[in-house]
Amino acid sequence: MNKPKIKYDFDEISAQYDRCNHLFSFGIDHLWRRHLVTSVNAHPRQHVLDLCCGTGDVVFSFLKHGSVGHVTGLDISERMIDLAQEKQIRFSGNPRMRNKILSWKVADAVQTGLESNTFDFVTCAFGIRNIPDRAAALKEMCRVLKPKGKLCILEFSLPSNPLLRGPYQFYLGRIMPLLGKWIVGGKEPLQYLSQSIRHWHNEVHFSTELSQAGFKLIRKTPLTCGLAALWVAAKNG
Ligand SMILES: C[S@@+](CC[C@H](N)C(=O)[O-])C[C@H]1O[C@@H](n2cnc3c(N)ncnc32)[C@H](O)[C@@H]1O
Repeated sequence: MNKPKIKYDFDEISAQYDRCNHLFSFGIDHLWRRHLVTSVNAHPRQHVLDLCCGTGDVVFSFLKHGSVGHVTGLDISERMIDLAQEKQIRFSGNPRMRNKILSWKVADAVQTGLESNTFDFVTCAFGIRNIPDRAAALKEMCRVLKPKGKLCILEFSLPSNPLLRGPYQFYLGRIMPLLGKWIVGGKEPLQYLSQSIRHWHNEVHFSTELSQAGFKLIRKTPLTCGLAALWVAAKNG
């Protein structure tokens, strides 16, 4: 089967994905996901859809730090969903899993196959940057959200302070690909990461894209000196 390029890349690096994530971000990625979960503040009767869920770190963060009742994780990579389900087995004895429903789905975020007006929240951490047809993905997020439902997007960014931005860009562009060669066995995934972060930060007008898809931006919060940002928007009712 001819896989779309992006799916192929994530299938390839899935086994090392978690390790790389935590290593390259010095573990701060956990705090960012936790921030996402606490800002959602979903209650037990609500249903969250986590798009581009990867190995499920946002989904499990909802279980650890939130009180939401039902979380669905969706990813285009079958391998990522397999790893998420393996984590779920390890997590199954945890008392926080009690009375919680977890569902997983392998699908493209552009065409989820999920019913319209279903979810109270849609979240997406470090995923929207990788979707080529972002406009279609945002429309799909809007479709599956209930009226006035919230969209929470966590994405990498660049620090606004030039004293931090220069060294950080050097780390992204030069150091990370070298570390990537050593850990993942190739420079390409990390080179892609660094290019896509710069493109996302410098060339994408995300607030305009959100309003074109049917959302009203509520806030954009920079995290850790602007290394990441959390966007919260509401579906127009
Ligand atoms: C950088 S990872 C982020 C994973 C996870 N959200 C996290 O916080 O670690 C991006 C994920 O997006 C998925 N992805 C890329 N394009 C996608 C698409 N069109 N539809 C659904 N998932 C997609 C990849 O398979 C990968 O698991």
